[in-house]
Amino acid sequence: MPTGHRAKLMDGRALARKILNGVAAKVERIKAATGVVPSLATVLVGDDPASVIYTRMKRKRCDDVGMKPLRVELPATISTDELVAEVKRLGADKSVHGILVQHPVPAPLDKRAAFEAIPVEKDVDGVSSAMLGRVILNMPSFPSCTPAGIMRLLEEYQVELDGAHAIVIGRSPILGRPMASMLINAHATVTLCHSRTRALPNLVRHADVIIAAVGKANFVQGGWIKLGAVVIDAGYNEGNIGDVDFDGALEPASLITPVPGGVGPVTIATLIDHTANAAAAQLGIEL
Ligand SMILES: NC(=O)c1ccc[n+]([C@@H]2O[C@H](COP(=O)([O-])OP(=O)(O)OC[C@H]3O[C@@H](n4cnc5c(N)ncnc54)[C@H](OP(=O)(O)O)[C@@H]3O)[C@@H](O)[C@H]2O)c1
Repeated sequence: MPTGHRAKLMDGRALARKILNGVAAKVERIKAATGVVPSLATVLVGDDPASVIYTRMKRKRCDDVGMKPLRVELPATISTDELVAEVKRLGADKSVHGILVQHPVPAPLDKRAAFEAIPVEKDVDGVSSAMLGRVILNMPSFPSCTPAGIMRLLEEYQVELDGAHAIVIGRSPILGRPMASMLINAHATVTLCHSRTRALPNLVRHADVIIAAVGKANFVQGGWIKLGAVVIDAGYNEGNIGDVDFDGALEPASLITPVPGGVGPVTIATLIDHTANAAAAQLGIEL
């Protein structure tokens, strides 16, 4: 029976503005103390239209907070060795503090080889195995920006994670896996699901916090969601559609992220924040 209840929206744009205001102040302090402008290199291979837009947005956010974006564009015909060499060159460049290799990279390039070539102190997008290891072990790190941004959203909306049952749908190295680790580190009990999971809707029904990171439009149905659950939709499918059936989720959920305007803006703001923190660490500045 309909209850007339509607979930409160988690405003990712507002949180992103708050994070970026904080980053601008950090950048000012770094510049005042060292004269150095923090810099993020965005590496784009090929001309995938979505990747072109994402790298442009990331550079624009750098400009907004007074950081220096460095645009690196490489042809899709490049070899893995050449890509790795370029990433290593940026890794050795003292004026570059963070490196983002935009993914997906075109086939048959080995994106893992490119990620592993990023020195860990410049891995502001949290893609290397060394950084994932730090995240799992709850060591100081720059975790992958989407799960790190989701943790910020959960904190902003004071979602109790200690002892809660969280379900993560998706196990990719940049999203589902670090997400599950970060939730475990926050003392949630975590169920991690993937394409081989059996009876997934029944598992979702028990969750207090649902993180959808599947890459399938409207995958999570409203009828799967426990009354009062917090729903985070990390999905971004063609036509601005998330991984959760938003209309169906509005009634059972207590809090929900919209798509767009939820996880996406916080992800980018987190990347920019990581870059400022990386610059400060490399320059020996306490923020
Ligand atoms: N908002 C942002 O900033 C941001 C950033 C990154 C990604 N995203 C979005 O987040 C989504 C996931 O991205 P990703 O890079 O993690 O994708 P991915 O690498 O394709 O991983 C998708 C995951 O979903 C699982 N899956 C696929 N079909 C399933 C099913 N029927 N039931 C249960 N699990 C299933 C896969 O399982 P297997 O491992 O078994 O194949 C895999 O672990 C996409 O919509 C992407 O656009 C958003």
